Amino acid sequence: MTIEKKLMIEAMNARKMAYAPYSGFQVGAALLGKSGKIYRGCNIENAAYDPSNCAERTAFFKAVSEGERQFQSIAIVGGPKDGNLKLCPPCGVCRQVMAEFCDPEQFRVILGAGEKDYQIYLLKELLPLGFGKETM
Ligand code: THU
Repeated sequence: MTIEKKLMIEAMNARKMAYAPYSGFQVGAALLGKSGKIYRGCNIENAAYDPSNCAERTAFFKAVSEGERQFQSIAIVGGPKDGNLKLCPPCGVCRQVMAEFCDPEQFRVILGAGEKDYQIYLLKELLPLGFGKETM
């Protein structure tokens, strides 16, 4: 099995844990560290809305809090509860979090609607001219 397919399956499994009672839009992410370990994340919403967290950031914060700071790729899947998966490009805040820890020329973002139906983007395509530590 390719690593892309494995990450898509992990992301779909992560999505089952989504806590999204307000939007009804459930997202799952699977983040591959350079160590080879996979960190899953789901979106976690809140009655006060602002404290909600996206699936991608859940995965990144889990990984970084466990000591992993270098990453290869992330798969993301999303869709309405009880509906079909649809392409779920990461929000701007999540792209910025990716840029903090990942080389935009290397880090791969896998977006898809199923284990056989995905596209691969480099972070630099999703966050051109991003602000980062090199800028400061
Ligand atoms: N969401 C994510 O978890 N990741 C994305 O890439 C886009 C949006 C979540 C946030 C919120 O819980 C729900 O999807 C609807 O915006």
